[in-house]
Amino acid sequence: MYLGLEKGVAFVTAASRGIGRAVAERLAMEGMTVVAASRSVGSTPEDLGDGRIVPFEVDLADSEATAALVDSVVELHGSLDVAVLNTPGPKIKPVLDMTWADWQAAHDQLLRPVVQLGTSAARAMRAQQAGAIVLLSSTWVRQPAPGGVLSSSYRAAASAFVKTLATELAPDGVRVNQVMPGATGTDRMQGIVEMKATTNGSTVDEEIAKVVRDIPLGQWAEATEIADAVAFLVSSRASFVTGTSLSIDGGAVRGAH
Ligand SMILES: NC(=O)c1ccc[n+]([C@@H]2O[C@H](COP(=O)([O-])OP(=O)(O)OC[C@H]3O[C@@H](n4cnc5c(N)ncnc54)[C@H](OP(=O)(O)O)[C@@H]3O)[C@@H](O)[C@H]2O)c1
Repeated sequence: MYLGLEKGVAFVTAASRGIGRAVAERLAMEGMTVVAASRSVGSTPEDLGDGRIVPFEVDLADSEATAALVDSVVELHGSLDVAVLNTPGPKIKPVLDMTWADWQAAHDQLLRPVVQLGTSAARAMRAQQAGAIVLLSSTWVRQPAPGGVLSSSYRAAASAFVKTLATELAPDGVRVNQVMPGATGTDRMQGIVEMKATTNGSTVDEEIAKVVRDIPLGQWAEATEIADAVAFLVSSRASFVTGTSLSIDGGAVRGAH
């Protein structure tokens, strides 16, 4: 499907590995210039989509650096057509084991950067009267899971934030959507199953089998499958789609909403 994204400028945060990296590569494949923002560069320039991926060092825990990101992108590349708001994953622990410091750190990982980047991207796009924003979140917004309270709680707020942006920015030609991945094969997922194997005295393969058992399509996602959905949503093929939340989870969330 022709997406018509070539020549545009995008930024993707938390983009050196995993889902963010796959999204950056997918948009670069479509011919976009993609600013891939993480604490580390992650790859050699030769790996980076024919020079279309521009690594950008930013620590999302640093609110001043995060606030400056959008202006830097517009200054360096002349416009901002697509913003993909991805964040590092928070700690996984039961509610009763959480400290207040855990809650504060997760706020600074999952909510504050989304609000900062979403607001400044929306301002830049409103000035252009065009643009598309995607929040990468999690199916745990729709279906909280044991150990996932930080993710479910702050992402629910981030979800409400982008839904509101979608409504307010629609008259200015800016679309705002959310992609909710389910279990996806990345370093983070590998770390989670290894942690569960240690906690439960089981093997990693047994923990993977437990995750996959709850997925009707019988496997977890590849990061590229999440990236394909993001590429569609930011493209003109999705020109009448705004304010939506799309689960990419192999059918794991069964609720009717
Ligand atoms: N994998 C899943 O099954 C799954 C499912 C649903 C939702 N999610 C969510 O999707 C997001 C990405 O997950 P993933 O599996 O792709 O994770 P991942 O493979 O661990 O990648 C995390 C990315 O975040 C970057 N990062 C970490 N701390 C950062 C910081 N302070 N500032 C800027 N960048 C930072 C990392 O790069 P640097 O270390 O170079 O900074 C890396 O590029 C997370 O929020 C996760 O909770 C994942």
